[in-house]
Amino acid sequence: MYNIAVIKGDGIGPEIVDASLNVLDKAGEKYGMDFNYTEVLAGGRAIDETGSPLPQETIDICKDSDSVLLGAMGGPKWDNLPGDKRPEAGLLGIRKALGLYANLRPAILFEELKEASPLKEEIIGDGLDVLVMRELTGGIYFGDKGRNDEPAAWDTMKYTKPEVERIARRAFESAMKRDKKVTSVDKANVLEVSRFWREIVKEIAKEYPEVELDELYVDNAAMQLVINPQQFDVILTGNLFGDILSDEASMITGSIGMLPSASMGEGNFGMFEPIHGSAPDIAGQDKANPIATILSVAMMLRYALDEEEAADAIEKAVRKVLKEGYRTVDIASEGTKVIGTKEMGQRIADALE
Ligand code: IPM
Ligand code: MG
Repeated sequence: MYNIAVIKGDGIGPEIVDASLNVLDKAGEKYGMDFNYTEVLAGGRAIDETGSPLPQETIDICKDSDSVLLGAMGGPKWDNLPGDKRPEAGLLGIRKALGLYANLRPAILFEELKEASPLKEEIIGDGLDVLVMRELTGGIYFGDKGRNDEPAAWDTMKYTKPEVERIARRAFESAMKRDKKVTSVDKANVLEVSRFWREIVKEIAKEYPEVELDELYVDNAAMQLVINPQQFDVILTGNLFGDILSDEASMITGSIGMLPSASMGEGNFGMFEPIHGSAPDIAGQDKANPIATILSVAMMLRYALDEEEAADAIEKAVRKVLKEGYRTVDIASEGTKVIGTKEMGQRIADALE
């Protein structure tokens, strides 16, 4: 029996989470797991119902759970609120409160979706499999910020040594289980914080002599991702660059609607969410792609609950449904069958073996 805190969130959040819980329940039946879901509020809905984007109760329940599943947060309705009252503050707040410093964003191009990738076939080669390891609770997202009467405004990018060390270790550990290459991405030709980052990453690299370390400036990395994505295995980077590069990496896999993520703290505790946002323009229309959330559930089973077999089964079911030609509209191409959010979730649940 696992206790899962569920934050459905805003926009398409509730639809994609419902579709994913349907898959998780089915996996539970097949693999002998029981799930107890506790729905908690964060983001826009939490603002509407409680006045705060992150009620204390939400933090407490998440901390007491085995794992956390999150849909998406935000929307135009809350756009004019001050920074610390916005739905996004709820998202950043929960990452920080739960100590989730490592954000794993795997960008994998499924064979079946080659058509949906904007990259040419000769660039894609025999497929893409990149893991973006983004630092999630530091950097410019959390540094000193403010405004003054000048008038001027600032945000500060700061990293402490332990912050860089622990995320670098995670990246090298992951690389050891993959293709043994880490590309650290920074802006060391300009930023002091990046030069500091490089020094520490080089130190940590010594603990992993089998892993090759490459270092790229972020502007170059952005370019390399579209001209030669094959060179990447694990991309290790800070909070802001990781935010940007993971969106870019997701698009080369066909759609941002395909990318899951795991936000991990120490040990197995984590929060699992698609990397995309709340897509308010298509909310409630049964159009959203639930696959990123369904794959996030698979990551939850693998990383948080140690249910490897069930995780594999969900990923296999996703591939099977794609192979059968079913697509949500964002990944549709000629000759495929376009279906809605619910049906996609149901088909994946039914395809579980
Ligand atoms: C993401 C999102 C968030 C981020 C926003 C919604 C605060 O873009 O998870 O990538 O910038 O981290
Ligand atoms: Mg982002």
